[in-house]
Amino acid sequence: MRGATGDHPPATSGYDAELRRHNEVLRRAAGIRLHDHVLDIGCGTGQTTRQAARTAREGSALGVDVSAPAITRARELARAEGPGNVAFEHADAQDHPFPQERFDLVISRFGTMFFDDPGAAFTNIGRALRRDGRLVMMVWQAGELNEWDVTIRRSLAAAEGSAAGPPGGPDPFSLADPTAVQELLRGAGFTDASFTDVHEDVNYGRDVAAALAWVRGFTCTSEVLKRLDPAAATRAVETLRAELAAHLGEDGVRFDSRAWIVAARRS
Ligand SMILES: C[S@@+](CC[C@H](N)C(=O)[O-])C[C@H]1O[C@@H](n2cnc3c(N)ncnc32)[C@H](O)[C@@H]1O
Repeated sequence: MRGATGDHPPATSGYDAELRRHNEVLRRAAGIRLHDHVLDIGCGTGQTTRQAARTAREGSALGVDVSAPAITRARELARAEGPGNVAFEHADAQDHPFPQERFDLVISRFGTMFFDDPGAAFTNIGRALRRDGRLVMMVWQAGELNEWDVTIRRSLAAAEGSAAGPPGGPDPFSLADPTAVQELLRGAGFTDASFTDVHEDVNYGRDVAAALAWVRGFTCTSEVLKRLDPAAATRAVETLRAELAAHLGEDGVRFDSRAWIVAARRS
């Protein structure tokens, strides 16, 4: 997946570092309170879950993710760093039998865009929320508004004579359209959906080599590179390397990005 799709790598530093600015925006939007019980959907290695649990000192935070390696890593990190009121479960949020009306708040940092059946998934997640409980999730806006996506696609397509084609796989932009998402959430039992524009850079690494390794790990990149013949793949990687180099600044390789904070209440 793109540091955006479904198969998050079981490391902590890459994605957390990429999204340092986004993380702060989500933290503020979530407005977690001392006694809250928080559910983190698609929690990956659990930075946002641990963060939520630290704020909800008299409550708790549960992170769920469909990736077993991510959950193993999340548990290791929680054992090493705490806090004590955090837990992780290896589960598909789409149909996992969450305790009903247990949580005050559902959060997610780019972990809700990959459901096979979004209607069923958000209905299931909604059932876990108490009445009036809140959903606060960060999702990508459209691909063409995200410089990182435009650049990666252009670089891969530049392998002339190749069969690069579309990336395929899970779609990180599946919740980009506010009208469709509002409709989806209404159908799943949510109300008062709002969309707040988040315009922050992503940071792919401190230098070009680190950024290239990170971007090559995205599903959208690796799937295309696998399909190319070796010469075309080499050309695509060199084009990508040049693009990353052009975006290297004092604090790393940064790209413009656009996301939404989607907030809603269980009706
Ligand atoms: C882009 S990553 C974000 C991870 C994490 N929220 C973070 O910010 O580090 C998306 C995550 O969603 C998880 N995911 C995708 N589909 C899921 C599902 N149906 N149920 C639970 N987790 C899912 C993936 O395994 C992945 O860890």
